[in-house]
Amino acid sequence: MTNVLVTGGAGFIGSHLCTTLLNGDNIVSLVVIDNFLLGSEKNVSHLLNDSRLILIQHDINDISFLSETLNQYNIDTVFHLAANSDISVSHTSPSVDYLNTFNTTWSVLEAMRNNNCKNLVFASTSAIYGESIDEIDENYGPIHPISHYGAGKLASEAFISSFSYNYNINTWLFRFPNVVGGRSTHGIIYDFLRKLKADSEKLIVLGNGTQEKSYLHVSDLVNGILFCKEKYAERYNTFNVGGLDSINVKRIAEIVIEETKSKQSIHFTGGDRGWIGDVPKVKYNTNKIKNSGWQPALNSEMAIRTTVRELIKEAENDNK
Ligand SMILES: NC(=O)c1ccc[n+]([C@@H]2O[C@H](COP(=O)([O-])OP(=O)(O)OC[C@H]3O[C@@H](n4cnc5c(N)ncnc54)[C@H](O)[C@@H]3O)[C@@H](O)[C@H]2O)c1
Repeated sequence: MTNVLVTGGAGFIGSHLCTTLLNGDNIVSLVVIDNFLLGSEKNVSHLLNDSRLILIQHDINDISFLSETLNQYNIDTVFHLAANSDISVSHTSPSVDYLNTFNTTWSVLEAMRNNNCKNLVFASTSAIYGESIDEIDENYGPIHPISHYGAGKLASEAFISSFSYNYNINTWLFRFPNVVGGRSTHGIIYDFLRKLKADSEKLIVLGNGTQEKSYLHVSDLVNGILFCKEKYAERYNTFNVGGLDSINVKRIAEIVIEETKSKQSIHFTGGDRGWIGDVPKVKYNTNKIKNSGWQPALNSEMAIRTTVRELIKEAENDNK
């Protein structure tokens, strides 16, 4: 039996993680702390009747508050997801990643140290690897992130490593690829759907459309995280979590047009990337997780198509 804290639990991935955790039978209490900067109470509204859920709106950079909460609910495991999730804004406002991507992790680690809390699952990212032409596995290095967001996550990983070593905290670090699914708060599909609504003639796509990455549906991601947490018992564990394939931005635009039955034509702004800090191609090696017996149910194209349908349905429900 376990008492769990999910930081950023009212966000896109966090809300799906909470649903799956509460569907299990070993949760005594599940505390969500989210400042609703990007997430919202609506994302967890389907869980509010569950008496094991405690939803708190607060900024986790407040270490005293976080420490008191860990103590009050006797938390033994933290899933730390709270961060700035919008890489494109951080070029103009780098402090957002210092505060919300790095400092939130510092705060979690200090609160865990104060309470002798022993288990940490961390939402890291493939963005830490920067722009590499090589295939990247978990041992790839040296690592040079090109976004402030990637830097904030890499700095977080470094302190998680030292805290894990100094205070015997068991850690599972997951370097997510692009994650898609219902309740997205940002990202390529969310962006295309918004643009299609606003412009009846053109879908403007950032870059030349050849940017190519691996996409994972959020249901597979949550399943992969819980699979690895159960299976791996070393003190410090790192995983690239994802599928074996990738898809380019042009194909994603075509799928969104197909699924929405839109008439708009696709136009590219040009250049090899969408914004400064965007990594145009990621060759992501996921052999470690695959060889451990886990693989996603949906490949990149299926994950994209499923997400478009989920987001269309959500918008229809919102309009009812
Ligand atoms: N979605 C992806 O493709 C992707 C890829 C790689 C890594 N990640 C990581 O996964 C995690 C979840 O991402 P997501 O896509 O669900 O994004 P999200 O923005 O929907 O969720 C993040 C949540 O954290 C909250 N938050 C931010 N700063 C906070 C603070 N200081 N105090 C309290 N709450 C705060 C936000 O309000 C939001 O609800 C993040 O750590 C993100 O960096 C996401």
